[in-house]
Amino acid sequence: MERVLKLLEPPVTDPDRTRGYLDLLPEGPGDDSIAQRLMRSSALPQIYERLWRPALIGLAKGPLGPSTAQEMALIRDLLALSPGDVVLDVACGPGNVARALAPAVGEAGLVVGLDASASMLDQAVMETGRSPYRERLEFVRADAVSLPFHAGCFDAVSCFAALYLFDRPFEALSSMARVLRPGGRLAILTTRRLPGIGPLNDVFGQVSGVRMFGDDEVTAALAERGFTEVRRRTAGLMQFVAGVRGS
Ligand SMILES: C[S@@+](CC[C@H](N)C(=O)[O-])C[C@H]1O[C@@H](n2cnc3c(N)ncnc32)[C@H](O)[C@@H]1O
Repeated sequence: MERVLKLLEPPVTDPDRTRGYLDLLPEGPGDDSIAQRLMRSSALPQIYERLWRPALIGLAKGPLGPSTAQEMALIRDLLALSPGDVVLDVACGPGNVARALAPAVGEAGLVVGLDASASMLDQAVMETGRSPYRERLEFVRADAVSLPFHAGCFDAVSCFAALYLFDRPFEALSSMARVLRPGGRLAILTTRRLPGIGPLNDVFGQVSGVRMFGDDEVTAALAERGFTEVRRRTAGLMQFVAGVRGS
């Protein structure tokens, strides 16, 4: 945990580490949508990686979308990781993406998984205890909208299956851009609006807490934040967006 402590801004001298992760969010997040309450439940983290994610994200990606294994290969490709890299996985849930990235950073590298849900992080810590890469994985409880790290301290940032849950997703994107070093890569998997149903996308979003992003909304937001090589690939109701932080 000492390596993560050095990345924190503002510095935190004695954070709560009793649950195996650094807890910087003792008050808990304020957001109370249906989706967010599910993420904080104790039951979902236990079935998330093996049942919930393959079923729901699989359905949203559509029959021609990438499998979970292909998705993890795609994220490694989009982030172009090298040994020694320091990576942030925003909204890591039970740590599934963070663990998939860990082999690529080598023994000198570090993957920091960040999430707001204590129950998701409990699961992440438990699952990671069985990983051969556990020495290079650390977890932090904090809000993705205001990431508690030094500017430019990460070589790569991922945010998969989560941007649509944030109450201020564009502030979260600014925060991700801030903590990435110039030339560092960002990879996102988020939702896209269902064509042909117009405002019903917004009604669905308000009821469920799952925001549906327009086709150019996330790519444009990255370009506005100075990202270059911005690219996008769609899969059903999901979109993969990636870019390189400009200098
Ligand atoms: C569906 S899970 C995604 C897990 C993983 N990234 C994946 O691709 O499977 C969404 C996660 O976002 C987290 N989350 C939602 N809002 C957040 C916020 N404002 N800050 C940090 N994490 C948040 C939830 O707690 C949940 O664990």
